[in-house]
Amino acid sequence: MKILAIETSCDETAISVLEITKKDTGTKFDVLGSVVHSQIDVHKEFGGVVPNLARREHEKNLPLVLEKVLRDSKEELKNIDKIIVTVGPGLEPALWTGILFAQKLGEENNIEVIGANHMEGHIASVLVNVEKDTHTSIDFPAIALLISGGHTELIHMKDWQTKEKIGETRDDAVGEAFDKVARMMDLPYPGGPEISKLAEEGRIQNMKLDIDLPRPMIHSKDFDFSFSGLKTAVLYYIRDTKEKSGELSKETKIMIAREFEDAVIETLLHKTKKAIEKYVPKTLIIGGGVIANKKLKENFINLEKYYSDIKVIVPEKSLATDNATMIGVTGYIEFIENKKERLPLKANGNLSIG
Ligand code: KG4
Ligand code: ZN
Repeated sequence: MKILAIETSCDETAISVLEITKKDTGTKFDVLGSVVHSQIDVHKEFGGVVPNLARREHEKNLPLVLEKVLRDSKEELKNIDKIIVTVGPGLEPALWTGILFAQKLGEENNIEVIGANHMEGHIASVLVNVEKDTHTSIDFPAIALLISGGHTELIHMKDWQTKEKIGETRDDAVGEAFDKVARMMDLPYPGGPEISKLAEEGRIQNMKLDIDLPRPMIHSKDFDFSFSGLKTAVLYYIRDTKEKSGELSKETKIMIAREFEDAVIETLLHKTKKAIEKYVPKTLIIGGGVIANKKLKENFINLEKYYSDIKVIVPEKSLATDNATMIGVTGYIEFIENKKERLPLKANGNLSIG
């Protein structure tokens, strides 16, 4: 089966063409073509994503991205069996561009269009092995930690159809906290990669901040997170430093980045370990743009040593941040292979899992 998948929930216009084959050992996803057109340069000057600007850019880019992905994959629309498109969560003006584009393509070429959940896409992103040309299957039960620019969630999965959100952030998402702290230090958007570069430098040079930043909600009994207090602690530290010594030096930025990253990693690890101990999963899946963070990824993969009977699965680098491949994979797994009830083809900015 061949699938065309479309993703426009935020600031990436992405389309992929996938070929899906059933093997005795599971389902294999081959990526015939995948184009991700980032709008970062357009939104950079505003320090974050502007929804109406994103809509306009998606409208402009979708036909060009489609043309390129069909060329790359040497495919024609007449060979496509299903179109899968993100319907939420995300920015509604941006989501609508993808949905309307998918519907028009579907009508013109007589192809069924199926809506998919972006966050389930981040879970399904771990099923694709482009680098090793193989396939992964998940042993259930599983716990998924989803860490992106808009979400921080812990999901308990009995199987693909039975998912329950067991914890989430009460305020900022973890990627959002990275972006906001970067902005406080005049670093460009998106801030995650910038902070992680500085933090790395801090570790190499063994530079440490003179205070410990808070590890929020680490002692709470639930599986929820909170990052706004941590962000505010950074804000106060920067304000006090500037009052004392004027500008924020490169050294101070490095030390803040390192301590902030450590605080985030420790908090995420702590709650994930608690979830593992309660639900005893066979698999831990980490998805979302923030898993592109090297130090964070290392720490989570190390959990395999700590819990010998658990497998930790993270997406390949190109599939960690937003892309359309993961949308095609989740659409296929959820609605075709597992025949879950279809989602309405309507933008739903707050669509949740479960
Ligand atoms: O999943 P994603 O591409 O988009 C959303 O669905 O939100 O995640 C984007 C987020 C941004 O907040 C970005 O700063 C963060 O992922 N990010 C990182 C790194 N690379 C991307 N955060 C920390 N370290 C990184 N290396
Ligand atoms: Zn995402």
